[in-house]
Amino acid sequence: MLWTDWNINWRVVGANHNDGDRADMIIRFVDASFQNRGELILHPRLDDALRDLYGRGSYSGKPGEAVSMPTLGLLQQPYALFVGCERAPMSEQALRNVAGTIGNKLLELKAGSADIVVPAGQPAASANALMEGLLLGLYRRNSLAVGGREQAKLERVSFLLEEGADIEAWQIALQRGYIAANAVCYARELTNVPSNRLTPELLAGEARALSERYGFDCTIYDEKTAAAEGMGGLLAVGMGSVNPPRMIVLRYGGDPGSGQSIGLIGKGITFDTGGVSLKKAEGMEEMISDMGGAAAVLGAMRAIGELKPKVNVVMVVPAAENMPSGSAFKPGDVLTAYGGQTVEVLNTDAEGRIVLADGVTTAIRFGATKLIDVATLTGAVMHALGDLATGAFTSDESMLGDVLQAASRAGEYVWQLPLHPEYDRLLKSDVADVKNHGGSWAGAIAGALFVRHFTEGKPWVHLDIGGTAWMWSDRGFESKGGTGVMVRTLAEYIRLSAD
Ligand code: BES
Ligand code: MN
Ligand code: ZN
Repeated sequence: MLWTDWNINWRVVGANHNDGDRADMIIRFVDASFQNRGELILHPRLDDALRDLYGRGSYSGKPGEAVSMPTLGLLQQPYALFVGCERAPMSEQALRNVAGTIGNKLLELKAGSADIVVPAGQPAASANALMEGLLLGLYRRNSLAVGGREQAKLERVSFLLEEGADIEAWQIALQRGYIAANAVCYARELTNVPSNRLTPELLAGEARALSERYGFDCTIYDEKTAAAEGMGGLLAVGMGSVNPPRMIVLRYGGDPGSGQSIGLIGKGITFDTGGVSLKKAEGMEEMISDMGGAAAVLGAMRAIGELKPKVNVVMVVPAAENMPSGSAFKPGDVLTAYGGQTVEVLNTDAEGRIVLADGVTTAIRFGATKLIDVATLTGAVMHALGDLATGAFTSDESMLGDVLQAASRAGEYVWQLPLHPEYDRLLKSDVADVKNHGGSWAGAIAGALFVRHFTEGKPWVHLDIGGTAWMWSDRGFESKGGTGVMVRTLAEYIRLSAD
């Protein structure tokens, strides 16, 4: 598998614990009260040094600002790291962000081991956020250069709890964060692999490896079996490439007694050139992330495999490479999608919705009774929400309510956009059931409407991650490249569905 877990040995220890096991670094959260003279933070001499830096204006103590110093024999650990934070109890979001700074710093300082003094008064229930921020902040895209860039060296972490804290509760919540962070890093890694090394066939192999690891049912349609099934949308988009398409299905049956099953469908375009409606060259390399939706649902399956919730899940990834060539589909073509509806192609760059149509039909044929699709579907959603929030659309407000609640608990921003019936005319075609392009206005809405055509009236939520799946530069605990966005939201949604 592309991502083989963090190799970090972590543990939780109580106050005053001392087994002589010396870490490279001790990490202490400091809120604004550090300015009060006389209050012990780590060691009187180090505390003085920190206050001196503050006095000089070189350390502000603001949340997320960190300063490291050698301890020169004053403490067991040779280095100390002070990290600014709000006064505990912090919100999960605040804690995740501060922990992200720690992850970034541990990477930068090449620390092999760390003792993290957990802030007094912070509830155990928020510990997952501490672990998530830490591990996500440590992650960087692999360098494929000879020799490569160094990845994080962290091998050992001890969380030092305050007196009286519930060690077991911390352990459980940290473990939940560890699972979530691993799932997100898996999605990031999948997204960051360039398209010459991650074709639809290789992506299918990755899904198969995941199914073997967790005991999921795995069905993969190649170009021949997909043709025999009538997956006309997937084939149309995929046939311009020498790397043929795949329809990938994983099934997890955590609740065999129930007829309900959650369908998770992820757009798996391993590269989007735009096809015959070719994209401009500048920035096209980002389109290795056009399988960010696939990465999100595969990441969610990884978390599901670990957590084993009492629900049924059908995951579907329609995977294809969108290329211009002599065998590519063309504007003006009329295709028959898997469900039997016809599609007029006006722009081959609106390919994601076409493969998703067949993906949604596949999920329904495999028993999905509710649908969530995740897709880097439009650039337009980025014009609406920037690179900060994922756009959400639904045919079922109460289902979206649950997804929004999961997103908020996971600390991911998701914002609803409307699907008023008057928008329907955007996709009216003279020659087919629907056309794939609705003009230059309301582009994210048109994309969502297209997908809704294939949902057969099932409760459905569409998450457009066109603005959030990829970062052009580092931002907090998100590093340049694939973000793994929506993995935590989906995993949380599934977990809450099992309650
Ligand atoms: N994968 C793109 C959307 C995208 C573009 C995501 C840039 C992230 C960054 C999608 O397939 C696409 O090309 N959409 C077109 C649709 C249009 C032709 C209707 C778009 O948004 O321009
Ligand atoms: Mn496109
Ligand atoms: Zn695309």
